[in-house]
Amino acid sequence: MAAHDVSVEHSIKNFHFTDETGIIELSCSSSDSLLSESEQHVCSNNCATIKVKEILDPSFGMYVWPCAPVLGKYIWYNRNRLKDKITLELGSGTGLISALAAKCGAHAIITDSQKYRPVFKIAENNMELNNIEKKNYEIKELTWGYISSYMIKNEKIDFILGSDVFYCPNDFEDIIVTVSFLLKKNADAEFWCAYEHRCSDWNIDHLLEKWNLSCKNVPLEDFDADCFNVAGHDLPGPSCCCRRWA
Ligand SMILES: C[S@@+](CC[C@H](N)C(=O)[O-])C[C@H]1O[C@@H](n2cnc3c(N)ncnc32)[C@H](O)[C@@H]1O
Repeated sequence: MAAHDVSVEHSIKNFHFTDETGIIELSCSSSDSLLSESEQHVCSNNCATIKVKEILDPSFGMYVWPCAPVLGKYIWYNRNRLKDKITLELGSGTGLISALAAKCGAHAIITDSQKYRPVFKIAENNMELNNIEKKNYEIKELTWGYISSYMIKNEKIDFILGSDVFYCPNDFEDIIVTVSFLLKKNADAEFWCAYEHRCSDWNIDHLLEKWNLSCKNVPLEDFDADCFNVAGHDLPGPSCCCRRWA
């Protein structure tokens, strides 16, 4: 397989976001079919299905990480807050989170590092796969720790989203610098993130203090994510944490 050819050897996973807590059957296929009409009936009522094309590839953003269904569930529980708002996702990878935000009525800004350009293609594929109109999303390069002219010019962001971006301690301060910049520029914005407990030595408290930020843990049981099979996937929900920063 060509290293970053997104047209080959992919699978499509369906992530189901509902208000129900029960087990949802996991579904996965290799077909590229667009959502059926009933699957497209989202957000007006009580469920959304997001299709995600993913590729097992050494590049981290080409497949869905365990925290994405957890953060997705949090977004789903707060979907009424997203309508007509602007979300900016850090380290978007496949774009599952931004696709869900767009389905909940937000204008979604998908970002990832300029070093990992193939993820932009897969994220775009996934927006198309979910019938999200181009006017409802944009894709930008945003490398943590760098303040681009786009970030300076950008008018308003309501929610910053990050799933599994805290996975490498060398990047922690760069992420926090980026979040701090965006939160200072958008005084009413919030940062919603989910991360996995990977090592008990990892701690960001000193960085929060240094950059004058605070965050609150959101218990998984508050939004029915304290289980396996979050959004229909057996990714390890219970080992993830969700936090809200302001
Ligand atoms: C662990 S993956 C998570 C992907 C996706 N958010 C998810 O939960 O499925 C980390 C993502 O961050 C991106 N990334 C890594 N280093 C980055 C950096 N320095 N600046 C911006 N994005 C970066 C990767 O390309 C990848 O998409």
